[in-house]
Amino acid sequence: MSSKKRIVILASGRGSNFEALTKAIQSGTVKNAEVVALVCNRKGVPALERARELGVKTVVVESALYHSEGKFDRPAYEKVLVREITALKPDLICLAGYLLLLGKTLLDTFPEKIINIHPSLLPAFKGLKAHEQALKANVKETGCTVHWVTADLDSGPIIAQSKISVLAGDTVEKLEARLLPIEHRTYIEALKKLCDEDTP
Ligand code: GRF
Repeated sequence: MSSKKRIVILASGRGSNFEALTKAIQSGTVKNAEVVALVCNRKGVPALERARELGVKTVVVESALYHSEGKFDRPAYEKVLVREITALKPDLICLAGYLLLLGKTLLDTFPEKIINIHPSLLPAFKGLKAHEQALKANVKETGCTVHWVTADLDSGPIIAQSKISVLAGDTVEKLEARLLPIEHRTYIEALKKLCDEDTP
């Protein structure tokens, strides 16, 4: 019987981290894992196309359908999301550019099973626009962090972190472009730690 860890990846848009993780698993760089599905909260996004090219099952639960009169019914959305994810029997859920905050329904159903990548050296620059925050703070170094997801935003225990220098003339776009390949490597390193290092 296969003992590979069942990985479900959640994304909202571009999906470059999803692609990097999936390729690392499919090529055997991460050994004790399989990507069982990509779950998206939006239809028609590039991440879904990447999943089809990589032969990964896709599931879409459209969060936009749970908006009405300017309000988002997060519990109703997450109830459906949880049903779909539970059916995939995940050992680990990887957030990779998943742009919604996680509510109680999701967090309580999968305690200690959800990880995320954030584009800053946490605990610095939590939340949105991390690169903008880093540039405004005039820091010399920034980076990315893979961490466990808890009820407090971007505050769970750190699994892996990588640094890059902030250069003169850097903009949000330049920083983002330089950090993205580092994010991919860092997320793969974190998965290796979680999936392979405790394998006898
Ligand atoms: C990455 O910068 C990640 O750190 C952040 O959202 C972005 C997602 O990019 N959480 P992609 O969709 O993986 O290309």
